[in-house]
Amino acid sequence: MSIFESILDIRNKFDIDIQNSDDNSASIESIRNKYLSRKGTVAGLFSQMGSIDASQRPEAGKSLNELKSYITASINKRLESFNGQSDEDSEYSDLTLPGDPFPGGSLHPITLVLDEINSIFSKLGFSVAYGPEVDTDYYNFEALNIPKHHPARDMQDTFYISDDVVLRTHTSNNQIHTMENHAPPIKIIAPGRVYRNEDVSVRSYCLFHQVEGLYVDKNVSMADLKGVLNHFAREFFGQKVKTRFRPSFFPFTEPSAEMDVSCFFCQQKGCNICKYSGWLEILGCGMVDPEVFKSVGYDPEVWSGYAFGMGIERMAMQRYGIEDIRLLFEGDIRFLRQF
Ligand code: DAH
Repeated sequence: MSIFESILDIRNKFDIDIQNSDDNSASIESIRNKYLSRKGTVAGLFSQMGSIDASQRPEAGKSLNELKSYITASINKRLESFNGQSDEDSEYSDLTLPGDPFPGGSLHPITLVLDEINSIFSKLGFSVAYGPEVDTDYYNFEALNIPKHHPARDMQDTFYISDDVVLRTHTSNNQIHTMENHAPPIKIIAPGRVYRNEDVSVRSYCLFHQVEGLYVDKNVSMADLKGVLNHFAREFFGQKVKTRFRPSFFPFTEPSAEMDVSCFFCQQKGCNICKYSGWLEILGCGMVDPEVFKSVGYDPEVWSGYAFGMGIERMAMQRYGIEDIRLLFEGDIRFLRQF
């Protein structure tokens, strides 16, 4: 066999070896050893160089070098193809290297705020209730004293799944689900996602979160409601926060109010967050309308209650000084890492 035939032969044998090798570095290294080590097959061919015809030597040397490069490159490629998968097989594993950092992550600002609200209300004896995000017109509107064609429906642009099924526009649907399933007294908060068909902007998003509150018992008064919400505001925003209640309208409460807290961006000096009013609106509330009690079969002569609903994004934005609501939904890691 001429040296050229031997080179071809070895190249073919190597191809078969490398193709049949196991996916681990030990097996590839043994092939490297077989062909490329000092006593390996390729070295054996080099040692024959002295005995071949001088005129063929340059050509033979070139082919041998090519074979060597080919084997080296193929071995490296093969190693790369499963790199990292079988480190434990590698004689090069260095067990003394420091480990990779563990990506710990952090809680989303919405989760942080929700947890805090839950914790404040649970200390006041409220338990947490959850209800459906896809619900019927009845639970989202009708039973809450918002009949079809009522102008109040325009307050909330609704995503309709069908004529009768909606993405809930507020967490108030939980009031009805809870009262239908439990006899009074009731003391719950109900956090969750709500949906509105609104243009996305710095201030509004088609998806956001609310926490609903509902307390039903005998002799519940507006003073109870104000007491609980004032306590909540001081716990959440700090003891120095000021609150005010403005008369408002919601179909499911009578009387109804909105609660504002003093702007803590500017300490009421006036800034563009509070639109120079010194106050930020955080929730709607009121005494449960007798019509709502009737729709769940509670006797309004016996039972009374209050309800409230607050927007979580707004609270998170105020708490953390976030000026664009979209940041809360985009999942930008540079933003989220700050919490
Ligand atoms: N559901 C109202 C909204 O989404 C907020 C609200 C107002 C809830 C008054 C209540 C309430 O429970 O009593 O705008």
